Amino acid sequence: MTNYPIAKIRADFPILKQKIRNKDLIYLDNAASCQKPIQVIDCIGNFYKQDYANIHRGVHTLSQRATDKYEQARHTVQEFINAKSAKEIVFVRGATEAINLIAQTFGKANIAAGDEILITAMEHHSNIVPWQMLCAETGAILKVAPINQQGELIYAQFEELISAKTKLVSVVHMSNALGSINPVKQIIAAAHAKNIPVLLDGAQAIPHMSIDVQALDCDFYVFSGHKLYAPSGIGVLYGKQELLEQMPAYQGGGDMIRTVSFETSTYAGLPYKFEAGTPNIVDTVALGAAIDYLTSIGMETIAAYEHELLLYATEKAQQINGLNIIGTAKEKGAILSFTLDNIHPHDIGTMLDSVGIAIRAGHHCAMPVMDFFDVPATARASFAMYNTKAEVDVLIEAIQELINVFG
Ligand code: ALA
Repeated sequence: MTNYPIAKIRADFPILKQKIRNKDLIYLDNAASCQKPIQVIDCIGNFYKQDYANIHRGVHTLSQRATDKYEQARHTVQEFINAKSAKEIVFVRGATEAINLIAQTFGKANIAAGDEILITAMEHHSNIVPWQMLCAETGAILKVAPINQQGELIYAQFEELISAKTKLVSVVHMSNALGSINPVKQIIAAAHAKNIPVLLDGAQAIPHMSIDVQALDCDFYVFSGHKLYAPSGIGVLYGKQELLEQMPAYQGGGDMIRTVSFETSTYAGLPYKFEAGTPNIVDTVALGAAIDYLTSIGMETIAAYEHELLLYATEKAQQINGLNIIGTAKEKGAILSFTLDNIHPHDIGTMLDSVGIAIRAGHHCAMPVMDFFDVPATARASFAMYNTKAEVDVLIEAIQELINVFG
């Protein structure tokens, strides 16, 4: 992409301008957490310098200003994912908390002994463990749709697992361990044909593609800010209004109430019913700034650039003898998981760090995926909007060097 503003984008990320072990930092651990542009960093500083106060509580100017900015961020998220209403945007700590919230509210209200929750074999632990907890509490059953050797959902078997007992389908939009992108529209249509709601874990998908929850028609969509160039500790639960209305409150406390007496309390309407206590005000506003930044470049533009980067990296990696790519789905986001013959992934990570390259090595919070591929861990290079083909070249050379010396 010749007109992609890569120089300007890289200039916006101050952390990238440093040397690690006397080499230019090459940051390829974006699936774990990505770096923040100056627009987000400044937003945080300026908010504390000029606008900070608690929200929804004060009649004073600062409280009103802080409230306006917090609620503006909600509208920014609403537009970004094309939700019908700002009431459908609930701020949480991250995708993990969002899934736990759904399990503990929607789950407890709608899922009973013998009912089934359907997930896939490529889920992150955060879309497994909350359901196991719910199953242990209720007697419900967790069903897992299998994947193939490419790391793709075996769709026919997924469909066969939808039964009269299925009460929720909860699938990852894009796998953090493999990069596979699930056929979510098809999944949602199949589940809806049987009146089953669908939750999409969008933690990895959201920074790589444009999301339209109305076009998807998903019932819930969850994601974390820190993988979207925003701070950690802020995330989003999108839910269709009619579902959120029916769900019981999650946590009790300030801000989520309408009236309180010692006899009984009544709760606030959406989305505040799910936002108990003083929220993460500043990081929410910063999430809005991150989205403004992304929107100024365009998610379609970013997606096209990253796709080109992934194809380039994949082609180069395939030429290395002794490198095995884990996850070769046809529909794939900008993640390259791999192993090297005779070199443990943790050693790959350590040795790449010694030349300034940051990747993640481990199970990527997806132990069942590692079991399926029969590997203890993988090395994972995950790309962001600011990475370049030149960085891929350095990575590939460094891997080749590793193999030459230790392989
Ligand atoms: N889920 C994050 C990852 O993929 C932490 O690394």
